[in-house]
Amino acid sequence: MSKFNEERVLSVHHWTDTLFSFRTTRDPAFRFRNGEFVMIGLEVEGRPLLRAYSVVSANYEEELEFFSIKVPNGPLTSKLQHLKVGDPIIVGKKPTGTLVLDNLLPGKNLYLLGTGTGLAPFMSIIKDPETYERFEKVVLVHGCRQVQELAYGETITKDLPNHEFLGEVISAGLIYYPTVTREPFRNRGRITDLMTSGKLFSDIGLPPMSVENDRFMLCGSPDMIRDTRELLTNGGYVEGNHGEAGHYVIEKAFVEK
Ligand code: A2P
Repeated sequence: MSKFNEERVLSVHHWTDTLFSFRTTRDPAFRFRNGEFVMIGLEVEGRPLLRAYSVVSANYEEELEFFSIKVPNGPLTSKLQHLKVGDPIIVGKKPTGTLVLDNLLPGKNLYLLGTGTGLAPFMSIIKDPETYERFEKVVLVHGCRQVQELAYGETITKDLPNHEFLGEVISAGLIYYPTVTREPFRNRGRITDLMTSGKLFSDIGLPPMSVENDRFMLCGSPDMIRDTRELLTNGGYVEGNHGEAGHYVIEKAFVEK
């Protein structure tokens, strides 16, 4: 039996010259947990060319959605960025990943810290009703260089609070904190600096971070992960994984090599 499903592209959205999203059909037998990633790609010269992509859509949605950077000369993304409606795309049958609720110890506030396309897994997690059953407040922090790169801002601030079934829960539980480092914006600075200074917490009206109350999921570049992890480790937070739940979990935002 094949390790892949062949899906079809249903829509494509280009956010900037370097960022785009697309939706595909979903095999009814394809199951995943919100926050997981899966191998996806194209058949090139008769062979699958695949990369890991976090699923943006929630596991109860009928379609799959992915968020991608366009890597200059990237073997896959230089092709993927030209996807059109109706094109075939290969999706692996084995989703996996660490950014799942079960890998976190119970807590009061859940901080989802993503830079760039590291936002992707958190889009799925903020659409999961269970996230709001486990945590009183869910804080989605998205850090980008430029304002234009703050993809999904409208989905988060307009569509989700009006969602037919989850709108109320999301409005009451979700705090969105976009921050930009290289041009003027209402929130400025790196996520790590905003945590260290405490500005993040005072801006959103929550208490300074504590091991007792706060849980974190991180998704970004290797540098962002390294520095945020160091900050948390120094604060006494313990990393969780599938073997043992912890105070925080991490995943590299996948960039094509
Ligand atoms: P900065 O502009 O100061 O580098 P990138 O596109 O390089 O992945 O960056 C996305 C966002 O992540 C940018 O706002 C960038 O800030 C920020 N960033 C980069 N490195 C780190 C790091 N080590 N810790 C926290 N944020 C980072």
